Amino acid sequence: MKVEKGPLSSEELNRVQKIISESQGQKWGLIPLLQRVQEELGYIPRQTVEPIAKALNLFPSQVQGVISFYAQFSMEPRGRNIVRVCRGTACHVRGGRTILKMVRQHLGVEEGRTTEDFKFTLETVACLGTCFLAPVMMVNRGYFGKLVPPKVRSILKQYE
Ligand code: FES
Repeated sequence: MKVEKGPLSSEELNRVQKIISESQGQKWGLIPLLQRVQEELGYIPRQTVEPIAKALNLFPSQVQGVISFYAQFSMEPRGRNIVRVCRGTACHVRGGRTILKMVRQHLGVEEGRTTEDFKFTLETVACLGTCFLAPVMMVNRGYFGKLVPPKVRSILKQYE
């Protein structure tokens, strides 16, 4: 199920407006500005594209293009915790599929989806660069390796 979030609250809008006004006129500040909005709200709401473009003297389509180009940016609401499960070869041969299945079951969402309470977003990646720890997953910036199902459950519980 796709998680929808309503329009931004006035408090969220104020936070975005503050970030935008600090970047006013800095044409080359688009990426840092988008990063700040995403850090603040967890995603870049569609309704912020136009004010961002206006502040930087860009077309909304240019802002939209940059958001679509970089995988780090998302226009969909994301969870407070991003879980990334590796589906690379080294992890796959050491049981990565079972780990992914466990995470899916525990969170109740498929890859690319966010839990209804916005606590977690589940993603998969081609390789997390720590194959010696296979099977591996990340939660936010933390790496968890040599995973087995009970370990996966206790890791996810720490973030609930
Ligand atoms: S294949 Fe999983 S970390 Fe490289």
